[in-house]
Amino acid sequence: MGELIDGKIVSKAVKEDVAKEVAELAEKHRIIPTLYAVLVGNDPASQFYVKKKKKTCEKMGMESVVHELPESTTQETLEKLIAELNSKKDVNGILVQLPLPKHMDEYEIIKLIDPMKDVDGFTHHSIGDLYLGRDCLQPCTPSGIIRLLDHYNIPIEGKDAVVIGRSNIVGRPISLLLQHRNATVTMCHSRTNDLQYKAAQADILVAAIGRAEIVKGDYIKEGSVVIDVGINRVEDHTKDKGYRIVGDVEFSTASERASYITPVPGGVGLMTIACLMENTLKACRMQNNIQQT
Ligand code: GUN
Repeated sequence: MGELIDGKIVSKAVKEDVAKEVAELAEKHRIIPTLYAVLVGNDPASQFYVKKKKKTCEKMGMESVVHELPESTTQETLEKLIAELNSKKDVNGILVQLPLPKHMDEYEIIKLIDPMKDVDGFTHHSIGDLYLGRDCLQPCTPSGIIRLLDHYNIPIEGKDAVVIGRSNIVGRPISLLLQHRNATVTMCHSRTNDLQYKAAQADILVAAIGRAEIVKGDYIKEGSVVIDVGINRVEDHTKDKGYRIVGDVEFSTASERASYITPVPGGVGLMTIACLMENTLKACRMQNNIQQT
């Protein structure tokens, strides 16, 4: 049985550092980092995540405001709101929860966010800097994955990494971060031929395709490191809610072969919010020209 990569421990350490630095900022500079989250429509998962982000900000000593807008909000209204938030000095981070309702153009909305306030790392500017390997506000889930690997002293340089999933939020950016750390990266996706063969070459396997337990134990190379980004609901009538949450990896069989593996829940998911907290603090520092001490 491989060792568990415990997102609870690592995210707690990240959040403790953030809370300490937030207290210092308040004391020395009288500044409180502030995150604005924009939530459009009634998607229950989005509502849950945004609430969690706001609560975590508050635990860190930061401020968070949630702008809730109805499903029928027009593109123009949201564009105006982004422009207004860009111009406000007391708004340090802007987060537009995705997905937006179908009638909206996500691309055009995200494009408008001031890169200095882009705590999700989703704008063209942030993606460009990430591609170039420059310091920037990095997308939270990919940077959370790197933090987990580093915490467990798992070497990345020279390793064969296989990323399953090519989303803009996880698959593509984590492939860049792994390349910047000198891994050799193979990208796989829903149309990949012989996924099992390719996955089995991985020293580090990142599963981020959003399909419940699609990666089986026999896809896993003995002794490899398995990072499961999936959060999938599967029916389970033994549970009160009628479902349980599983990852993209079949944990019970994969954990027999992996040297390290992230659980779902309790792995990567917790890191996403912790890294968002870090980004909000970083954005606030950049805007106020305050170096990290
Ligand atoms: N939807 C799913 N993941 C994310 C995320 O990390 N940020 C935002 N804004 N929306 C999401």
